[in-house]
Amino acid sequence: MRRGTTIYLYELAWILPSIAIPVGMLVALIVTAFGAGIHVPGDEGRVDPTKLAVTSPFDQPGVFEVGPGRYEARMVAGTWFFAPNEIRVPAGSTVTFVATSKDVVHGLFIPKVNVNVMLLPGWVARVVARFDRPGEYPFLCHEYCGIAHHTMWGKVIVEPRS
Ligand code: CUA
Repeated sequence: MRRGTTIYLYELAWILPSIAIPVGMLVALIVTAFGAGIHVPGDEGRVDPTKLAVTSPFDQPGVFEVGPGRYEARMVAGTWFFAPNEIRVPAGSTVTFVATSKDVVHGLFIPKVNVNVMLLPGWVARVVARFDRPGEYPFLCHEYCGIAHHTMWGKVIVEPRS
C-alpha cells in the first residue's frame, strides 16, 4: 500500500506539470493574441497574381511617404527579382512592407530588423519595421523558388537625417 502511494505521488509530479505547462502556454497565446494583438504576419487580403500590373497598390511598386516618418514599401516578388530592389528612407522611419508574389512562393527576410514573411501568390503580406540607424539593410528571398533563388535580394538604404 505504501509503495503504491509513493508511485502515485511520483507520477503526479509529472502529470501536474504536463497539464500545467500546455495550459499556461495556451493562456499566454490567448493573452498575446487578443490582449496584446500579437499575430503572425500575413494575410491582409487577396489579390489576383496575374493582374498585379493593373491592381492597386502593386501597379505602382515603390516607396511612398504616408505620414511624418512613415513609409509604405509596395513590393512585388517574382522569379527572380524584387520590385523595387532598393528602398531609400531616412533614419528613424517606420516602413510598412506591403508585398506579394506574382508567380511562385517567395519570401521577404530582412535579418537586421527581424522581418520574416512568406510571399504567396494571391495573398498580400503586410509587415512593419523600424529603421533607426543609418546604413544598409539587405533583404533576401528565403523560400527556395528555383534555379536563381540565390540572386533574389535587395537592400533598404537608411540615410542619415540632415
Ligand atoms: Cu524567390 Cu527564393
